[in-house]
Amino acid sequence: MNEKVELGKTGLYIHSIGLGANKIAEENKETNTEYGGKVLSAAIENGLNFIDTAYYYGEGDSEEIIGKTLKENKSRDGIVIATKGAHKFTNDGVVLDNSPAFLTNAVDESLKRLQTDVIDLFYIHFPDKNTPKYEAVGALQRLKEAGKIRSIGVSNFSKDQLKEANQNGYLDVVQANYNLIDRSAEKTIFPFMLENDISFVPYYPLASGLLTGKYTKDTVISEKNKVRPQFQDDVYKKHVEKVGKLRGIAEKHDVNIHHIVLAFYLTRAPIDAVIPGARNTGQVLSNLETAAVQLTPEDIQIIENIFPLD
Ligand SMILES: NC(=O)c1ccc[n+]([C@@H]2O[C@H](COP(=O)([O-])OP(=O)(O)OC[C@H]3O[C@@H](n4cnc5c(N)ncnc54)[C@H](OP(=O)(O)O)[C@@H]3O)[C@@H](O)[C@H]2O)c1
Repeated sequence: MNEKVELGKTGLYIHSIGLGANKIAEENKETNTEYGGKVLSAAIENGLNFIDTAYYYGEGDSEEIIGKTLKENKSRDGIVIATKGAHKFTNDGVVLDNSPAFLTNAVDESLKRLQTDVIDLFYIHFPDKNTPKYEAVGALQRLKEAGKIRSIGVSNFSKDQLKEANQNGYLDVVQANYNLIDRSAEKTIFPFMLENDISFVPYYPLASGLLTGKYTKDTVISEKNKVRPQFQDDVYKKHVEKVGKLRGIAEKHDVNIHHIVLAFYLTRAPIDAVIPGARNTGQVLSNLETAAVQLTPEDIQIIENIFPLD
């Protein structure tokens, strides 16, 4: 594993290859998802120290599995846990709530599920309609001063919402959709993050597996992936063809395509870490091998040419 890096200005030191822990709450034979605790333990034993979760992932199940696993392995020290809140599960469905009262309670509930005294990074998972963004972030700042969280993030905020949220300079990290297939964040929000010293954590870095290079034109797409835009007939084959063009760079570095894709993100300035999801131990351990990949300026240019910024 390579040297730890600081996550933005948070004072938290992480290895740049983290784990997106939404699948670890999804043990399921049909999708070949291993028990999350086993996947997480293997990752930690191999040096991973940055875990991304949320209350929403299994309605607390992902957080609970992380809390239980870290307790059993006595491995909380040195692990950086990021979690998120905003979803309220009601009889009428899920609603978003960023009110200070809701977020304060959400942090307390996450602390219990994670079996810890402090959450390293807490994100507002999605913006709600009514709460002024600076008030929501102000509530997180008070939780930081109270020692319940160490740093503040928001996720799925537009540029205008980010500006409002960062009115007092409290924001440390932003999380949003970003990958080679959809690089729009580079235009819309990267400049704001760079100007304001805010770190960016991309989600869907592998476009739900499509950017690993394991898909061919003839792959039968699972029911789960069929609904995702990148797997739709009209664009799917084009994506597969472009991803295949990365094979030459992967072979030169003696790695797989997903290593090249993840390594590319780490060359983008506001990105300190990536959090690919993993269904099993093999995937998470393979993703960790990205740490050894050093792309050359020529590699980066080839990738830029294949997946240009629109
Ligand atoms: N803030 C938000 O609103 C938000 C939204 C979505 C996700 N997230 C976070 O971002 C993380 C990443 O997103 P994601 O997991 O949905 O998508 P992703 O990282 O783009 O894709 C993960 C999927 O890629 C495949 N994969 C991963 N590593 C592989 C490997 N080494 N070899 C082959 N296949 C591999 C697996 O799917 P298959 O086995 O099915 O191929 C895995 O489930 C999440 O875990 C979550 O923590 C945040």
